[in-house]
Amino acid sequence: MGSISDNKSGGAYAYRMSKAALNMMSKSLAVDLQREGIISVVINSGWVKTDMGGASAPTPVEESVAAILGEIDRATLDDSGEFLNWKGNRYPW
Ligand SMILES: NC(=O)c1ccc[n+]([C@@H]2O[C@H](COP(=O)([O-])OP(=O)(O)OC[C@H]3O[C@@H](n4cnc5c(N)ncnc54)[C@H](OP(=O)(O)O)[C@@H]3O)[C@@H](O)[C@H]2O)c1
Repeated sequence: MGSISDNKSGGAYAYRMSKAALNMMSKSLAVDLQREGIISVVINSGWVKTDMGGASAPTPVEESVAAILGEIDRATLDDSGEFLNWKGNRYPW
């Protein structure tokens, strides 16, 4: 929802705008904090069975969170400023 390149379905204006703004914040943090060795990435959780995601979501919270923690553990400075998903792929901005 926050990727401009991946927006094929339109709609959700406010939600998409809020996520795109977070993406920009993460990218600037990556630039500003690189010299201090601090990594900043955006990680998409997938569609998760939460109050927001609803009962139709395919991914249990525990599975998404475990995968996100794995991505955080694996992230290096080379990843900083990137847009990752919970399965380890990168998204286009
Ligand atoms: N679920 C998905 O499939 C999915 C996919 C991609 C991204 N995300 C993102 O992941 C994040 C968490 O979503 P979720 O699925 O975990 O949603 P959720 O189950 O609806 O939980 C939302 C959380 O935000 C808190 N919250 C809402 N309004 C708030 C406010 N004004 N001030 C402080 N806290 C507030 C709620 O607190 P209370 O419990 O106290 O109300 C709740 O803990 C969101 O940014 C969402 O956009 C979710």
